[in-house]
Formats: sequence, C-alpha cells, structure tokens
Amino acid sequence: MEQRIRKAVFPVAGLGVRLLPATKTQPKEMLPIVDRPAVQYVVEEAIASGIRNLLFVTGRGKRAIEDYFDFAVELEYELKNRGKEHLLGEIRGIVNSAQIFYVRQKSPRGLGDAVFQARAFVGEEPFAVLLPDDIIMSDSPCLFEMLRLFAERPGVYVALIEVPHSEVSQWGIVSGREIAPSLYLIEDLVEKPEPYEAPSNLAVVGRYLLPPSIFDALAETSPGKGGEIQLTDAIRKLIGKEPIYGYRFVGEYFGVGSKLGYLKANVAFALKREDLAFEFRAFLRDLVERGII
Ligand code: UTP
Repeated sequence: MEQRIRKAVFPVAGLGVRLLPATKTQPKEMLPIVDRPAVQYVVEEAIASGIRNLLFVTGRGKRAIEDYFDFAVELEYELKNRGKEHLLGEIRGIVNSAQIFYVRQKSPRGLGDAVFQARAFVGEEPFAVLLPDDIIMSDSPCLFEMLRLFAERPGVYVALIEVPHSEVSQWGIVSGREIAPSLYLIEDLVEKPEPYEAPSNLAVVGRYLLPPSIFDALAETSPGKGGEIQLTDAIRKLIGKEPIYGYRFVGEYFGVGSKLGYLKANVAFALKREDLAFEFRAFLRDLVERGII
C-alpha cells in the first residue's frame, strides 16, 4: 500500500453558528485573519508540508471559497494596469502549485460525515485532514512535523494540545502515554467528556493523518455528541487495528471558529507582520497605558 501522504482534505461545510451573524451570508473560513482568509493559513500549511492535492468538502453558501482559490481574470487585469499585480501573487502561487478539488456535503451532519465525502478522492491511500478553524502558528508547520513522524512510524495521527481541565468538555480528549518527546501512543479518545470522565487534558486539534480504513469506520459510526457524526468516534473504532499517535506540537494554537479565538488570532498575526507590527504594538501599548487593558 502507498504510504506517502499526497492528499489533504479541508472540511469547510460547517454552519459557523458561533460566529453569527458574520457567517449568515459568508463562510467562516473566509473571515480574514489580518488580511488573509482563515482558510488560506491552513492551505499554505499543507502546501508548505509538501502536499499538492487538496480537496475542499463544501456545502451551501461556500462558493466564495471556490472563487478565492481561482484566477480572477478581470481583477487581475485591472491590477496589472495599475502595476499592483503583486497583491494577488500569493494566491496565484497557491492556485499554480496545487490541484484543487471540491465535493459537497449535502447537509452539515458533522465532521465525520464531511470527511466521509472524501472517500472517492482519497481511494486507498493514507491522507491528511486539516480544519481551517484551527490555525497553528509555529516555526515548522504542524502538518510537516506529523508527516515526518508518519514516515518513521506509519499509523493514525492527531495533533494535541494541553487544555485547562475546566475546558475538557469542549474538546476531543485522549488518554495515552508519551513514547518519545511530544509523541503519545493513544489508548482511547472521547469526544467532549464531562471533566470527571476526562482521561487527561490532552485535546485533539484539527490536524489528522488517517488511513483509508477510516471510511469503513465512518460508515458504521452513528451520530454521537450533538447529534453529529463525530470523526473522533470513528478514529476510536480503529484502536487495536492501527497504532494511533498523538503529536503535541510546538507552537501557538488559535481556535478561530469562536469569537475569542478569532480575535486572538488577529492580534497575534498582526504582531508578526512587518508592515503592521510597529503601529499596532503602539496602539496596544496605548490601551495599556490608559488602563483599558
Ligand atoms: P465545527 O463543529 O467547529 O464547525 O466543525 P461548525 O459546525 O461550522 O461550527 P459552529 O459550532 O456551528 O460554530 C469543525 C470543522 O468541521 C467542519 C467545519 O466547517 C469546521 O471546519 N464541518 C463541521 C463540516 O465540514 N461539516 C459538518 O457537518 C460539521
């Protein structure tokens, strides 16, 4: 079986209820973190990790994502006339360096169901899943590090962060043991446990390396927490059949599907920008001096 991971799946069919009303008429994945849509950060992570075949699992109202990762002939013509074609150069680079595919999830029945829609695209190969809600700021891309680990030890991989015990019920939580620095062999996973039933405070975030056998597991997975088909429940079915590893990444995590996470990401990424950081930092300092923060 082919063991190199060449394909990435981006589920973008969720409703984005937590970011309403902004997401009433626009996909949450298109909301900008500074001046780039959230989805671009994860697409760039996949490309920087060497993956060129990208599948978006879209749904109703997500057309803007398709238009974004395409040429905009008239706009590009106008920009060229004004000597500003560089403004779209980055996206042109993405469009030219990747092959982008789309499939629709007919209704938002959960992340597991969204991943299931990728079955024909994936075929019999292991593949990556990246959630555009989960943006990771790190020196080396999280996915790249997971692929490196996978090359040494094939298996199922999830990315992990430590969360406060009081917040475990918002996450998929794992139990396992650390077998190498930052690498865990996972023994169990539970979606959104109550704090008293949580086996740890290690939470799964939106980077996965999955085997094709996940599709049979998903086909047998009934709706779980929240009435949705949960990817975590399907991964759980692979325990004992495949080794399941967790990679506790080094970097900063932003859950941009929530208002607070979205705001934090904007601040953190703006502070990293050479063209903005100086004035933005001065603005924040002024807020501190005036006792506003
Ligand atoms: P979330 O549960 O965080 O996304 O799913 P959501 O449902 O859009 O958000 P809220 O809770 O309503 O605010 C995580 C990822 O899975 C995708 C989402 O687009 C997001 O990237 N997803 C979720 C789907 O593609 N389909 C679904 O049915 C559910």
